[in-house]
Amino acid sequence: MKEYSELITAALEARQHAYAPYSNFKVGAALLCSDGRVFKGCNIENAAFSPSMCAERVAFAKAVSEDCKDFCAIAITGGPADKEGTYFCTPCGVCRQMMREFCNPDFKIVCAKTDEEGNILEQKVFTLAELLPESFSL
Ligand code: THU
Repeated sequence: MKEYSELITAALEARQHAYAPYSNFKVGAALLCSDGRVFKGCNIENAAFSPSMCAERVAFAKAVSEDCKDFCAIAITGGPADKEGTYFCTPCGVCRQMMREFCNPDFKIVCAKTDEEGNILEQKVFTLAELLPESFSL
């Protein structure tokens, strides 16, 4: 449980800034780089829907645009804004493909269920290879 607790806490901090007036589903992500930097992201929705951005891809965009392309792990926490501790948020298919672009198959994806106080109730650690088997890349 301890190994990723700081990264999960960073994901929870990011979730505070989620802009999700349409789905009311708030997500936070924290991306750990091999040099120790952590880039946080939240989902940012849009009235036109398709411009909406997932928390994970916001974190990747921030990192890559700051010249960081070497990643170890990402922590993700999310769910309905008014129902803490009920949801276990795994990354969507588009975000998995974004991870595939920059990460090794053993990149760790840490999905955490947390309560209102930010306590970690449960965590599952997957590898990218597990969540995106037989993946496409050029
Ligand atoms: N969402 C994320 O930010 N990350 C995920 O892994 C799953 C879904 C966002 C997209 C949308 O703003 C809301 O959650 C509901 O789908």
